[in-house]
Amino acid sequence: MKIIICNDYAEMSAKAAEIVRDAVSGKKACLGLATGSTPEGMYDLLSSMCKKGECDFSGITTFNLDEYYPISPDDPQSYRYYMNKRFFDKINIDINSTFIPDGLAADPGIECSEYEKKIAERGGIDLQIIGIGPNGHIGFNEPDEELIPLTHVTNLASSTVEANSRFFASPDEVPKQALTMGIKTILSAGRIIVLASGSAKHKALSKMLDGKISTMCPVTMVNLHRNVTLICDKEAYYGR
Ligand code: F6R
Repeated sequence: MKIIICNDYAEMSAKAAEIVRDAVSGKKACLGLATGSTPEGMYDLLSSMCKKGECDFSGITTFNLDEYYPISPDDPQSYRYYMNKRFFDKINIDINSTFIPDGLAADPGIECSEYEKKIAERGGIDLQIIGIGPNGHIGFNEPDEELIPLTHVTNLASSTVEANSRFFASPDEVPKQALTMGIKTILSAGRIIVLASGSAKHKALSKMLDGKISTMCPVTMVNLHRNVTLICDKEAYYGR
């Protein structure tokens, strides 16, 4: 695993944005994307690079890791809304080439298998960006005795509902389920970039860096992959 320890969040975001810029410009690549607080700085930098003509998303397809269920794409808390407002509306990507599981799918199971098919039809994901939940989750693959390989419907851990309630009026309003890529979907990407900022991620990051694998800390699964880059800040790496 390649490890890049940055001084702070801004430096982490800049390093990540450089890697994405180099992976997309002038290419027909497929990107796997994450939401949450961690990649916001990277999206802002990529958006301004694109505005200045330093980055080109015209040949890019994207697949997001996850979406709450049920939730409307027009709901400001949905990941579709987040991606459109924070990123897709600001770059030169074809919106029809951006995929996020449908939070209103009548049959979420079918939606998940269709999502896998779409990824396969587009030749798989070249570069996958992931964040880490404080409990070690990736996508919404929560710590458990068993993990599910492919895109599936899942229940959110109560600690995730709690952590994500900062975006909602109250924990009661956080959807309790989600559609998420599975561990195999994530590990099938050609390259994985793990982003982590802040001391709340230190425990999960340390477990990943131990090099062992545990379903109780899903981010440790990236130790099975041959091309992973961790970009984190000092707080996440060393703790407080
Ligand atoms: C979001 C996702 C989640 C987040 C994780 C960290 O699409 O897949 O696994 O990456 O919950 O969230 P933040 O960045 O808000 O700390």
